[in-house]
Amino acid sequence: MSYTVLEDKVTLSGPSSSSAEVYFHGATVTSWCDISGTERLYLSPTAVLDGSAPIRGGIPVCWPQFGPGPRWPKQHGFARRMRWTLDEAAMSPASPTAVLLLRDTSDTRAGYPGEFELRLTVGLGKEGELEVEFSVCNRSEVEDMTFSTALHSYFAVEDVGKVAVRAGLKGGKYRDNTDGNVEKVEEKDEILVLGEVDRAYIGTNDEAELRLPNGKSVVLEKVGLPELVVWNPAVDKTAALPDMPDDDWKKFICLEPAMIDPALTLPKGESYTGRIILSVKDS
Ligand code: BG6
Repeated sequence: MSYTVLEDKVTLSGPSSSSAEVYFHGATVTSWCDISGTERLYLSPTAVLDGSAPIRGGIPVCWPQFGPGPRWPKQHGFARRMRWTLDEAAMSPASPTAVLLLRDTSDTRAGYPGEFELRLTVGLGKEGELEVEFSVCNRSEVEDMTFSTALHSYFAVEDVGKVAVRAGLKGGKYRDNTDGNVEKVEEKDEILVLGEVDRAYIGTNDEAELRLPNGKSVVLEKVGLPELVVWNPAVDKTAALPDMPDDDWKKFICLEPAMIDPALTLPKGESYTGRIILSVKDS
């Protein structure tokens, strides 16, 4: 059980065969292998890893806005486009945990006025579960700070047509981004990917389950992230992505714990924390 610091990333080795990898670029978790050593996150084989673009796959951090939003001209904000630093003082050599930090710079303040410290803590638990905690401190002594966020998790699957999402969504509302963000009511217990899916479910349960055809489920627990975005781009939208092979939409589904609408206004000097825990169980 340890961590190793490399030039571009930190790797974690946890109980049994569990492991994880976090790039400094965007503080993007790019790999999580569960206790059996099975990779559970999707990373595009053509993902750009040199820092010139957000990493396509893993768990990019969307902040200070989710989507195209009004506060920053870049889709999903700037946190996933910047190099974070490792806070080794907050880490213990014998623990499989990494702590990454990002503070405001003159560049960020040119587009977003906040004085902030972001902290992403990534760890492997006793059963090889992945724990990701995202906190935002508003360092300003005078200004409140408004943001939306998501932990944009890409889950690896063998065939997206054979998985189902169960999260108690039936009867709940969602905004359908494939239909002008019109608000709709979910009619089904299970969400299947039968074509492009791009939905933000509102006020969701704290647990979602991704049921795999082999009798296993990946369980996503979330705290402080009330919405759940379900995204798969299907054929046409994938063809427009420069950093994903055309057929790879079959190999992942995104379940993105989020806080989008309303955005959070964080008073001066205060902090926000959102957290996810990913584990695997028998369905
Ligand atoms: C999802 C959005 O969160 O991210 C989609 O709901 C978007 O609309 C997708 O296409 C990918 O965004 P990007 O900026 O990483 O290509």
